[in-house]
Amino acid sequence: MKEKILVTGGTGYIGSHTSVELISDGFDVVIIDNLCNSEAIVVERIEQITGKRPRLNIFDICDKGKLDRFFEENSDIAAIIHFAAFKAVGESVYKPLDYYRNNLVSLIYLLDAMKKYNIPNMVFSSSCTVYGQPEKLPVTEESPIQPAVSPYGNTKQIGEEIIRDTAVANQNIKAIALRYFNPIGAHPSALIGELPRGIPENLVPFITQTAFGLREELRVFGDDYDTPDGSCIRDYLHVVDLAKAHVIAVKRLIEGGSKKNYEVFNLGTGEGVSVLEAIKSFERVTGIKLKYKITGRREGDIEKIWADPSYANKELGWKTVSTLDESMRTAWKWEKYIRSISQ
Ligand code: NAD
Ligand code: WQD
Repeated sequence: MKEKILVTGGTGYIGSHTSVELISDGFDVVIIDNLCNSEAIVVERIEQITGKRPRLNIFDICDKGKLDRFFEENSDIAAIIHFAAFKAVGESVYKPLDYYRNNLVSLIYLLDAMKKYNIPNMVFSSSCTVYGQPEKLPVTEESPIQPAVSPYGNTKQIGEEIIRDTAVANQNIKAIALRYFNPIGAHPSALIGELPRGIPENLVPFITQTAFGLREELRVFGDDYDTPDGSCIRDYLHVVDLAKAHVIAVKRLIEGGSKKNYEVFNLGTGEGVSVLEAIKSFERVTGIKLKYKITGRREGDIEKIWADPSYANKELGWKTVSTLDESMRTAWKWEKYIRSISQ
C-alpha cells in the first residue's frame, strides 16, 4: 500500500476519475465531499472499477471544526488533491459571495490544516480560464494572466496566488497548480462521468442530452468568429488523461521530483477544436444526426484558446492519448448509462 491521498471533491466529475487512477496505482484514497454537486453512490462505482472503495467523509470543507476533527484522525496524509469547488461560471456572476466563500475559504482552511498537521503536498485544480483571451496561441504557462471575467475565474486566479504565497512563506509546503483546458468524456466503463445538475452550461453534456432527447436542440453560440469555420475553438481533453496527470503530479511532490516548491502546468492536448468540429466528431462516432442551430454569441465567451502542453510533456512525462472521437464515444456511453438507471 502506497501513501494516503486526500481527494477533496472526490465524488465529483474529475475527482472520481482521479480516485480511480490513484487506487489503480496503489494509493490509499480518502475523500471529503459534501455532495453539493455529486452523489455518494459514486464510491460504489469506483469500487466496481477498481475493486476498492475509497472512504467517503461527507462534510463541507468550510466547516473548520469538522475539518480539524478529520485531520486529527488522518494526520498521515501524504498529499491533498483539492478539487472541491463550485464551478458554474454563469451562476458565479449572480452569486459571487457563494463562490468566493466556497472556493477560497475551503482552500485557506486546507492550507491552514497543512501547516498545523504537517501535510506537505497539495495539487490544486486551476483552469485555462486564468488566461482569458490570449493574444498569442498556443498558451504556455508564461502567457499573461488576464483580468477574470467571472467571479468563478477570479477564484482560480486568487486561489493560485494564495497557494503560491503560502508555499513561499512555508518551505515545507509544496504545491502544483494544474490549469485544465476543457475536460470531457467519461470512464470507458461508463460507471462514472459528469453529472450536470439542471441545464448544462458546457458543450459536451449539452450535446449528449440533446442526442438523448432531453433537450430540444443545441444552440451553437456564434459562427462569426475569426476561426476557420466561424465557431469558437477550445482544447478538449479526455478526463481519464487528465486524471492520470494528477497521479503523476502527486508522485512528483511526494518523491521530490522538483526543486521548486510551487509549480504550474497547462494540461491540454495542444489541439484546437471548433464547436462545429466537436459536433461532427459526436455524429461520426454515434451515427446520430444532432439537432442544432446557430445562434448569437454567448456573452463572455473566449474566441479561441488551446494549450501548449510541452512543459507538462517534458517535466511530468505526461501527454494525452485519447482522441476527440474517443472522448465523444465515452461521453455518449455514459449519457445512455445514467439515463438507463434513472428510469
Ligand atoms: P464537480 O462539481 O463535478 O466536483 C466538485 C466536487 O466538490 C463535487 O462533488 C461537490 O459536491 C464537491 N464540493 C464543492 N464544494 C465543496 C465543499 N465546500 N466541501 C466539500 N465538497 C465540496 O466539478 P469538476 O468538474 O470535477 O471540477 C473539479 C475541479 O476542477 C473544480 O475545482 C473546478 O473548478 C476545476 N475545473 C473544472 C473544469 C471543468 O470543465 N470541469 C475545468 C477547469 C477546472
Ligand atoms: C465550449 C464551447 C461555447 C454550450 C468553461 C468555463 C471555463 C472552464 C471550462 C472551469 C464554447 C460552445 C457551449 C452550448 C455552445 N471551466 N457552446 N453551445 O466556455 O470553454 O469554458 O469550461 O474552469 O472556466 O468557462 O466551455 O463547454 O461552456 O463551451 O455553442 O450550449 O462550446 O460557446 O465555444 P468554456 P463550454
